[in-house]
Amino acid sequence: MVMADLPAVLEVEQQAYPWPWTLGIFRDCLRSGYECWVMELEQALAGYSVLSVAAGEAHLLNLCVAPAVQGRGLGRWLLEQTLNLARWHQVDTVFLEVRHSNRVARHLYEQAGFNEIGLRPGYYPAGQGREDAVVMARPMRFPQA
Ligand SMILES: CC(C)(COP(=O)(O)OP(=O)(O)OC[C@H]1O[C@@H](n2cnc3c(N)ncnc32)[C@H](O)[C@@H]1OP(=O)(O)O)[C@@H](O)C(=O)NCCC(=O)NCCS
Repeated sequence: MVMADLPAVLEVEQQAYPWPWTLGIFRDCLRSGYECWVMELEQALAGYSVLSVAAGEAHLLNLCVAPAVQGRGLGRWLLEQTLNLARWHQVDTVFLEVRHSNRVARHLYEQAGFNEIGLRPGYYPAGQGREDAVVMARPMRFPQA
């Protein structure tokens, strides 16, 4: 992902999330040197992921597939590529937070070897009040990794 991708990224972000990231957040991620990657399908933006890496840990900050092409295995593929990046950085663990109600994402992460390790109460804005975040972790140094 480069700055020139951001208009298309923001468009997908706004389609995919009820509380999307702002342009400023994506800019900050790029400027901070996070692993920000886009996935293209027939020259159109199909998804992206953002991974921060520090001190032997990685945090998956965003994983998104454009709604028009969801449910075709692209999310799984993008997650695998992002875990490969984490492996390349030789991290011990990849962490993430996901909305409690996001069943598709939680299923995807569980299938990819993430375990639930905690809950952050009221972490996300929600239609009525706030929603809990499920915190998940995936060990990267076990034989299975
Ligand atoms: C979560 C997300 C990345 C998954 O990407 P995707 O391309 O739609 O998912 P895939 O096609 O790779 O499918 C992954 C798994 O989810 C299941 N799945 C996908 N869409 C589903 C749906 N609508 N209902 C139920 N299960 C679904 C698939 O069956 C597959 O599981 P399986 O291998 O056991 O069959 C995508 O839905 C998305 O971008 N959502 C909006 C942004 C978001 O919530 N990101 C995660 C933030 S933590």
